[in-house]
Amino acid sequence: TRTIVVTGAASGMGRATVEELTAAGHRVIGVDLRDVEVIADLSTPAGRSAMADSVARLAPDGIDGVVAAAGVTVPLPPSKIIAVNYFGAVATFELLRPLLLRSATPCAVAVISTAALMDYDDALVEACLSGDEAAAQAMADTHGATEATGYASSKQALARWLRRAAVSKEWGGSGLLLNGVGPGSVLTPMTEDFLSTPEGRAMLAKATPIALPGRAYGEASELAEIIAFLATLRGRYLLGQIIFVDGGTELFFRPDLI
Ligand code: NAI
Repeated sequence: TRTIVVTGAASGMGRATVEELTAAGHRVIGVDLRDVEVIADLSTPAGRSAMADSVARLAPDGIDGVVAAAGVTVPLPPSKIIAVNYFGAVATFELLRPLLLRSATPCAVAVISTAALMDYDDALVEACLSGDEAAAQAMADTHGATEATGYASSKQALARWLRRAAVSKEWGGSGLLLNGVGPGSVLTPMTEDFLSTPEGRAMLAKATPIALPGRAYGEASELAEIIAFLATLRGRYLLGQIIFVDGGTELFFRPDLI
C-alpha cells in the first residue's frame, strides 16, 4: 500500500484518480478547496505551505506519490491561471519533496495538457520558469495575452519545468521519478463550464483533431488509469516523460517528433 497525495481531488480527473488508487488499495490524501482531507488554496503561498504542513501531519513517515491535478482555466484571469496551474503545481512538488524522499519508490506526476502545444507566450513561459511569481502574474495580465494564451503558457511552463527538474540532482538525481500526463479534451466539470464561453469553445476546437473514430472526448477514468500507473511505478527507469492521453491529438501537432 502506498500513500499518495492528489491535488484537485474533489472533481474531474483528480477525483477519478482518487477512485482508481483507492480501489487498488492505496491510501490517498486529497487536497482541494473543498470536500477532501486537506482543504487548501494552492493559488497563494500561504495556502501552499498550509497544504504541506497538513500533509506532513497526516503522513509523518512520508509519502510515496504526489499527483498535481489541481487546475483552472478560462474565463479566470491569466494571473490566476498561472498561479494555480504553474506555481501551485511546482510548489506542490517542491514542498512535498522531503516527504517523498522517505519512500523507497517515490513517484511524482504532473497533469499537463495538449494545450501546452498550442499558442503559448514564450516570454510568459520563461517568466514563470524564472520563479518570480509576482512578475509573472503581472506579465500575464498585461502582456496582451488572452486567457487561452495564459492557460497554454501555464501548461507549457509546467512541462518545461518537469523536464528540467527531472534530470536535476533534487529529483532524478535523488531517485525521485517525475513524469506527467497530457490530457486531450476530457469531459469534466472544468470543460462543461468552459464550453459555455466563446474562448473556451475556440480553444477546445483547436485542441480536438481527434484520430479515434467516434471519440470527441476522453473520460476522466481513462486519464485516471494512466495517472495512477505513473504514481505507482515499481520500476525505477521512467523519468521526465509526458504521456499524452488524447486520442492522438499530439500526433497532429508534431507528427515527426519521436
Ligand atoms: P476540474 O475542474 O473538474 O477539477 C479541478 C480541481 O482543482 C477542482 O476540484 C478545483 O476545486 C481544484 N482547484 C482549482 N483551483 C484550486 C486551488 N487554488 N487550490 C486547490 N484546488 C484547486 O478539472 P479537470 O478537468 O479534472 O482538470 C484537472 C487537471 O487537468 C487540471 O490541471 C486541468 O488544467 C488539466 N486538464 C484538463 C483537461 C480537460 O479537458 N478537462 C485537458 C487537459 C488538462
